[in-house]
Amino acid sequence: MKRFKLILIFLFGIFSTFPALAQTSEIGWIEGLSTLGSGEVTLLAIMGILLLLIIFLMLLMIYLLVFLSSVLRKQSPEMAEESSWWLDFKQKYIVGEMKPVAEEKDIQLDHTYDGIRELDNFMPPWLRYVFYITIVFAVVYFVNYSVLGIGNTQLEEYEQELALAAVETEQRQLLAVSSIDETNVQYDASGPSIKAGMALYENNCVACHAIDGGGGVGPNLTDKYWIHGGAIEDVFRVVKYGVIEKGMIPWQDQLSPEEMQQVSSYVLTLGGTTPANPKDPQGDLYEPAIEEPVDALTEDDLGLEES
Ligand code: HEC
Repeated sequence: MKRFKLILIFLFGIFSTFPALAQTSEIGWIEGLSTLGSGEVTLLAIMGILLLLIIFLMLLMIYLLVFLSSVLRKQSPEMAEESSWWLDFKQKYIVGEMKPVAEEKDIQLDHTYDGIRELDNFMPPWLRYVFYITIVFAVVYFVNYSVLGIGNTQLEEYEQELALAAVETEQRQLLAVSSIDETNVQYDASGPSIKAGMALYENNCVACHAIDGGGGVGPNLTDKYWIHGGAIEDVFRVVKYGVIEKGMIPWQDQLSPEEMQQVSSYVLTLGGTTPANPKDPQGDLYEPAIEEPVDALTEDDLGLEES
């Protein structure tokens, strides 16, 4: 019996450390909930209510059983003599063997306060066992985290989460880069991007557009005249799909979306430069649209003018 008790306490100590180890999985659990559809949430709520109802009914049944047995005991004295396992259990592990009220004089202390005398009662067994469990828990916890180092400390968990977040950021950026197309491409004038675009231009475009963009087989890329439009989206579209019948190659199979964005941005930086052998302008004059806020209020609208 003694050994059984010890094993039980030890097992409890081990299992009760798991919640302490599982701080991250708890968050995962909540995140999992938020991804559920509304139908699933309703189902879960209904199941939860049913579970509560069942627990409530069981408690009610236990209460009724206890009540019934106490009534029976009162009615038939021979039944009262019999000890039930529950009473034994209660006396051993929960309340303990209290001194009968008549003998309380023996354990009475001198100490009184407001007429209330103190009894030197023992600690109730349930509380004692809770105390033992905390000791076992502390040992298991300490061995787990500080001696064996199996569990992650808060700092380690933090670092793991940081690493995870870094990976996620990288994936998000990769996705953003690979999804660049002619509808969402942005003019990227940042140094590394223009440098990469220049290298791409020198490797792929010089044969037809000349090293300085002055043109040759292909049109002049430095003037304000464009056959297909001079916005970044237009340039990107021409680079991506080409103009096959006129000799401009589609680059979408050879360059990644990001590279096409870089080389398109580089082409736009050539605008306004003076190439050595400029080809005559082709196409229409393209003036970049100056973006004006649509809802800008003028001074008149605001009525700020002096009257
Ligand atoms: C084989 C020759 C050739 C190569 C290589 C070439 N292009 Fe072209 N490109 C042309 C021709 C020809 C045109 C004119 C198409 C037309 O008349 O519609 C053109 C048109 C363009 C235009 C549109 C100009 C306008 O006025 O609308 C852009 C932008 C452009 N090319 C960029 C590039 C870039 C960037 C590269 C390198 C990645 C490149 N081209 C490589 C031949 C070439």
